[in-house]
Amino acid sequence: MGDEVLPLNSSEALRYTGAPLRLNGARTSKDAAVTFPSYDRHQVFAPTSLNLRCLFHDSAIFDSRGSWRRAGFSVEGKGAKSDIMVASHPSAQGYLFKKYNVEISPGRQLKNYRCRIEGAQKLREFIGARHLTRITVPEKYLYKLPPESCHDEEFCYVLIVERLTLLDSSQTKQLYRQIDTETLKQLCTVLRVFSGLGSGARNVPFTNGGQIAFVDTERWDETKEAPLRHLSPYLSKEKQELAEKILRK
Ligand SMILES: Nc1ncnc2c1ncn2[C@@H]1O[C@H](COP(=O)(O)OP(=O)(O)O)[C@@H](O)[C@H]1O
Ligand SMILES: [Mg+2]
Repeated sequence: MGDEVLPLNSSEALRYTGAPLRLNGARTSKDAAVTFPSYDRHQVFAPTSLNLRCLFHDSAIFDSRGSWRRAGFSVEGKGAKSDIMVASHPSAQGYLFKKYNVEISPGRQLKNYRCRIEGAQKLREFIGARHLTRITVPEKYLYKLPPESCHDEEFCYVLIVERLTLLDSSQTKQLYRQIDTETLKQLCTVLRVFSGLGSGARNVPFTNGGQIAFVDTERWDETKEAPLRHLSPYLSKEKQELAEKILRK
């Protein structure tokens, strides 16, 4: 058994060339100068081209955030709600790795990774079918460490995702305040079908190309009564009414 990468989707990555964004309503001249480079997502997502055997030479690196850091990865702080660790490595630009530590049972881990992959795949198909240019979702793959790197076969899965260039939470909220009608319509079109993906700025941020990214796709088959509840406070009254109308249709 060699490296096992399960490519669960085959759709081509979306390409979007957006004009540079400028945040309106900046309070200082320094803020007003905040612009983002124009964005052209040409990067090919090809995890098999990475030296995954070398990167993940020993599954013990996943024991904790500390052990993953000691192996040369940058590991993000604890997520607000889940214990998933999100890491990057200098030799793998454009990729992020997501992994639960050993406290989460292997069965739950694998189920969760599959859910995230399936959600990304379903949403990507929907985006393609509806020609939604303002919405994006990262590519996601499941990697299985080879037996020689993994003491316990059940713990040997890691999720590899396409790293998007995301705006931070306050920039994202500002862009929701100034969202245009077409982008809002596309967002609501997604949330009418995938209401479980409705969330706050952290899970539905803007990219530097002005698209809305669904980075956390595990709850794709759940139903939420008010999927725009967390984002709606940032919308103008007029946009809130439009969103409600589309979501009620
Ligand atoms: N594909 C991605 N590209 C860039 N950043 C990402 C990506 N996926 C996740 N992140 C960052 O990592 C954070 C946590 O990831 P997420 O999948 O939402 O985990 P959790 O289940 O803990 O909410 C996100 O809020 C985002 O800041
Ligand atoms: Mg999240």
